[in-house]
Amino acid sequence: MTTTASEALAAAADAARLAPSVHNTQPWRWVVRGDRLELYAEPGRQLREQDADGRLMVLSCGAALHHALVALAASGWKYEVDRPSGEPLAVVRAVEPVPADPHDMHRLQLLRVRRTDRRAVTEEPVSEEALDALAAGARRGGARLHVLRHDQVLQLAVMIEHAGEAESRDERMRAETAAWAGGERTGGTGVPATALPAQRPLTTVAERDFGVAGTLAAGEGHDAAANYAILYGDGDERPDWLRAGEALGELWLTATGRGAAVLPLSSPVELEFTRAALRRMLGEVGWPYLVLRLGVADPEHAGPPHTPRLGTDEVITVAE
Ligand SMILES: Cc1cc2nc3c(=O)[nH]c(=O)nc-3n(C[C@H](O)[C@H](O)[C@H](O)COP(=O)(O)O)c2cc1C
Repeated sequence: MTTTASEALAAAADAARLAPSVHNTQPWRWVVRGDRLELYAEPGRQLREQDADGRLMVLSCGAALHHALVALAASGWKYEVDRPSGEPLAVVRAVEPVPADPHDMHRLQLLRVRRTDRRAVTEEPVSEEALDALAAGARRGGARLHVLRHDQVLQLAVMIEHAGEAESRDERMRAETAAWAGGERTGGTGVPATALPAQRPLTTVAERDFGVAGTLAAGEGHDAAANYAILYGDGDERPDWLRAGEALGELWLTATGRGAAVLPLSSPVELEFTRAALRRMLGEVGWPYLVLRLGVADPEHAGPPHTPRLGTDEVITVAE
């Protein structure tokens, strides 16, 4: 049992280690100062080539913030959050202990089982009702979800192909991906071979090419029953990216609770020309943060194992 505010905050930051992040970079750092928990981006783990603006880094920090808040609520703490526009990205204040809500405890369980699933999806689509719940999850987190129509999915497929080609032509981008993907990943970061398909599924919209084959049996399926969506919002500054990450965290836990698999596809956001094309797809009413594939994974076969994480001491400092 956690007792003091500072212990509860440290435990929340610890649980947030499980949050998703681009290439599993875990580009965050937490400082516990009494009843306050500060979140900082860790530029040492930023993708300099694919994410020069830090959009995906801050978005990943937002997902970690979301997970920390879920864990804090589950441990029975009322909190307040401040999101200054610079660094720290967020300051969480533990206000007072309150009776833990079973709903929050359930969300903490979902946080522990959530993972990225790159297997082919089954022929069963995510229901309309579940898609609405995911969109509501994104709104609760502070962003919105646009589920693409079939003609837009075909446009997305072309866009992703172009983004993939552009990135694989670029030697520095290729080297960056290679530095974070494949193999065993004993350092606690990166995407291990066990999470990558042995063969990329034959889909209309291609999964990201990490440049290395993995060991995950991805199945024979297509993506005909998948939905593709754009997570988007009103602005394109760091506070907006942080909110987008919180929205991603909330949407993903909602999906996990409903047996839906989420696969982020960030390459079209990494390049200027495809990001502009995504924005046009949104009718220029919002700024695109991330593309998501939403589907139902095969419940008969085991999904990928969890990816590694940095140790507690590597991401959390408790200030005296
Ligand atoms: C902002 C962001 C972008 C991501 N982009 C991709 C992507 O383009 N392709 C992919 O296969 N996975 C992508 N992922 C999933 C990460 O690789 C994954 O979260 C990370 O490896 C940790 O694994 P886990 O989600 O299973 O815990 C992305 C995740 C985030 C948060």
